[in-house]
Amino acid sequence: MRNICILGSTGSIGENTLDVVSRHPDLFRVRALTAHTQIEKLAKQCQQYLPDIAVVANATYAEKLKNLLTNSSTKVLHGNEGLIEAVMHLEVDTVMAAIVGAAGLLPTLEAAKAGKRILLANKEALVMSGQILMDMVALSGAELLPIDSEHNAIYQCLPQMKNAHQHEIAELLLTASGGPFLNRSMETLDRVTPEEACAHPNWVMGKKISVDSSTMMNKGLELIEAMWLFQMPAQKIQIVIHPQSVIHSLVRYVDGSLLAQLGEPDMRIPIAYGLGWPNRITSGAKQLNMMELGQLNFMKADLQRFPAIRLARDAAILKGTSPAILNAANEEAVESFLTGAIGYTQIIQIVEKVLEKINSEVATSLEHVLEIDRLARQTAQQFIRECSR
Ligand SMILES: NC(=O)c1ccc[n+]([C@@H]2O[C@H](COP(=O)([O-])OP(=O)(O)OC[C@H]3O[C@@H](n4cnc5c(N)ncnc54)[C@H](OP(=O)(O)O)[C@@H]3O)[C@@H](O)[C@H]2O)c1
Repeated sequence: MRNICILGSTGSIGENTLDVVSRHPDLFRVRALTAHTQIEKLAKQCQQYLPDIAVVANATYAEKLKNLLTNSSTKVLHGNEGLIEAVMHLEVDTVMAAIVGAAGLLPTLEAAKAGKRILLANKEALVMSGQILMDMVALSGAELLPIDSEHNAIYQCLPQMKNAHQHEIAELLLTASGGPFLNRSMETLDRVTPEEACAHPNWVMGKKISVDSSTMMNKGLELIEAMWLFQMPAQKIQIVIHPQSVIHSLVRYVDGSLLAQLGEPDMRIPIAYGLGWPNRITSGAKQLNMMELGQLNFMKADLQRFPAIRLARDAAILKGTSPAILNAANEEAVESFLTGAIGYTQIIQIVEKVLEKINSEVATSLEHVLEIDRLARQTAQQFIRECSR
């Protein structure tokens, strides 16, 4: 029986995790659930899964949740301290890190420090502080299992590589659907609305990652994530457009073998892999029907259409604080696009301007990374204000 804490249980990954967990009551017990603003949804989850701890954004929401959970033994907490208490809960051995954005960094680092098994969906944590998180995992003996479907696919193609025969890998190939604007005329991109940007052709996801998928910043963040997770230089990680999202990523070995993981585009597959690891458990996902597949297509990513890939690759090569600057600027710009303050094509323009304005430095500590994160957000906000005038 594994005891689970789900950070971000009211989100897309969080709900899919609960779906898989509820299929295996003999294998998993939910010990802690965390949300930010969706109090009613969290209350329903608490009534169903009876966690020891539930966490929300602030004291007001905590009061609301307590009122919805009368006669419940669930302890209600709030804020960062609450998130940290949830991951540190003695009974918790497995943490699903599924908060969106930089907000997921601190609890994920705490889970690493405490040596828990981390199922990592929150790619932004690794993008911001790759070296720090990987060092922490190595030091504490924590287990880090990737949940992002591409990284999970690569992980599944590397079982024999656990002893780090890095030289046997020629390259990693990250597949990308290309998102909703793969074939849209470039001249009309400045008129894209938040609804259009969030309508992903193959995956149902939260708003931020949906917008990131449409600009392909998501793939850029994944490139940086793969670099840290698999200790691969950015130059050995390629991005391949594969619109059907059937092959979730590949590993090319020096002998010419190319290993891939295939499956329906359903996040319950990588989630079940992480939850069940090292065993396989059912996920509830449909089995892929090879006979119905027809054609699978592959093409190069067009860097003019998707400049985010170039920015992320440059940041990956520079390392230091550059990925944290990229991530913070992108989060601010995406949020401003979603609220209507800036246009769609301005998202990546703002990220580029922030990267030009702030020099990359060696990331010396977590405090340093957080300081740079704040500076990049302030700088992005200045550019956003200029755009909205
Ligand atoms: N969705 C996917 O298919 C997918 C695939 C691969 C990787 N990922 C990664 O998984 C992470 C989650 O993605 P998602 O699509 O599940 O996002 P989502 O649907 O937007 O859910 C985000 C979750 O984080 C909580 N949250 C938001 N801001 C927070 C804050 N400041 N402090 C604490 N909690 C906060 C939300 O709470 P409330 O809703 O209660 O406000 C919600 O539970 C992201 O890093 C994403 O890149 C997602």
